[in-house]
Amino acid sequence: MSKHFPENFLWGSATASYQVEGGIENNDWAQGAREGQVPVCGLSSDHYHRFESDFDIVQSLGHNSHRFSIEWARIEPEEGKFDEKEIEHYLKVLQALNVRNITPVVTLWHFTLPLWFYEKGGFMHKDGARVFARYCAYVVEKLGNEANMWVTINEPLIWASQGFLKRNWPPYRRNFFSFLSATSALIRAHKLAYTAIKSVSATALVGIAKHNMYFYADSFAWNRFAVKCMVWFWNIRFLDAIDQFQDFVGLNFYITKKFGKKDTFIQTEMGWDINPAGLYQCLLELKKYKKPIYILENGLADQYDVHRAVYVRGHIESVKRAMKEGVDVRGYFHWSLLDNFEWSFGFSRRFGLVEIDYQTLERTVRPSAHVYKEIIEKGIL
Ligand code: BGC
Repeated sequence: MSKHFPENFLWGSATASYQVEGGIENNDWAQGAREGQVPVCGLSSDHYHRFESDFDIVQSLGHNSHRFSIEWARIEPEEGKFDEKEIEHYLKVLQALNVRNITPVVTLWHFTLPLWFYEKGGFMHKDGARVFARYCAYVVEKLGNEANMWVTINEPLIWASQGFLKRNWPPYRRNFFSFLSATSALIRAHKLAYTAIKSVSATALVGIAKHNMYFYADSFAWNRFAVKCMVWFWNIRFLDAIDQFQDFVGLNFYITKKFGKKDTFIQTEMGWDINPAGLYQCLLELKKYKKPIYILENGLADQYDVHRAVYVRGHIESVKRAMKEGVDVRGYFHWSLLDNFEWSFGFSRRFGLVEIDYQTLERTVRPSAHVYKEIIEKGIL
């Protein structure tokens, strides 16, 4: 294990159900694809049937942890009707990780909604938060012996802005007030889910995955003020609201935004600036919560693996720097293990440490995955 990091530091990668499993047809995204609003996901990488061999790859890459998500539409295909067979499936997934000594981190909701929930108004429905909390408690009660770390909600503000402000994702709205009420609905949903999970498993560790950005500015006062507003509005507001309802802070870091004259960075295939120092700054910002911090996502679209090794090294270097300054970071998860369905971009963006050939579903480990392995095992940065 790396000499710069504690023995029990979690090293891994992350995926999400709809993006990799394949064969999910009863959620809002599959419905959107049928209506031509978003790309078709179909079989994706068929991780649903290939998780065992995918976890062999995870193990061969030296990871000691893995983050994945459970598809709510599989577990509760109709309101209040739970599918035991799907619980069995995820039980096997968890056992497959545990038997390989890979600590699971489980996301309960990663963007996709069961169609029945979506159609009745989702989180905006007056019962939305309660229905979500019931689903969360059901899963933790059934699977809690195999996992201890639970993420209720992935990136609440990304979901709300893509769906309620930018019209890119279901429910395809463009209304600032809907965006605000969607985020408030998720605050309520998380709080209820947190309490419901604790009532079935007092020892479960519960948090969210919060997408924070590094905002900075040139010397103009107005731009500096804009940074302060955005840090509060985008990074801090949601986390402050759930402060009493999280056992750890989960950070997803991808994006740097400057107000004023732009700086030049190398960019990912998403057009996002690569700036590892931004991760360092975001970590410092989270110190005030005095809770363990896990980087639950960090990665890039880089089909030919040109920048990934440098990216991984740079960002882990930033983690080390933040830890030296007293930030309590306990884990790093690269996004993603596999190439996957990148939402409105379909399969055109490649985030995987492992490449997928979508004709044959063959897996090929990208060279950067070995660089990450070396960092994990030998502490070479
Ligand atoms: C999401 C992932 C997504 C990744 C890359 C995060 O916003 O949690 O689902 O694939 O970023 O865009």
